[in-house]
Amino acid sequence: MRALTRRETLQGLAAACVACDGAAQVPGTCATASTGTAPGYCLVEPVLVRVDAGALLAEGEAVLVRVDDQTGVIVARDAQGYFARSAVCTHACCLVTLCDDDTCTGLLSALAACGPVGPSTSGRALCPCHGSEFDLATGAPQTGPATVDLPAYEVSVDGTDLVVDTARVVAVAARTAA
Ligand code: FES
Repeated sequence: MRALTRRETLQGLAAACVACDGAAQVPGTCATASTGTAPGYCLVEPVLVRVDAGALLAEGEAVLVRVDDQTGVIVARDAQGYFARSAVCTHACCLVTLCDDDTCTGLLSALAACGPVGPSTSGRALCPCHGSEFDLATGAPQTGPATVDLPAYEVSVDGTDLVVDTARVVAVAARTAA
């Protein structure tokens, strides 16, 4: 697959974001199955997501990028490098958001608009629809009703940006060198 140029990626993001400003998140409205039993469970089609300045994340930080009302990714950095997770809840496909502390008592954003949210150092994401909470390092749900991990995606470094390819699901322990 040909890699998208920076211009193409940004154009794609801009086009996808038109519909997501202020969009309500309604559980179960995904275009495909919402049971969360397979990677890519509710993505309409794979996307390349460029995270501007993502490579400048400090260790322990994470940023969420919402592409549209059904698609989003989280990129993060730990001691081993960069990693990416789906931001789509495995329960019924709502977009999660990042917590503002490690007990998830507050949210960094209600995801009302497109674009980046963060950085957050909580290591946690919370789904606003039914309260599932996820550990970013493993993708695993810490509280239900979700029972399936957030998929891990391939992430590459392009200058100071990170590029996430949601067509490429990788092992949860995979890291890209910082
Ligand atoms: S969609 Fe139900 S907890 Fe996320």
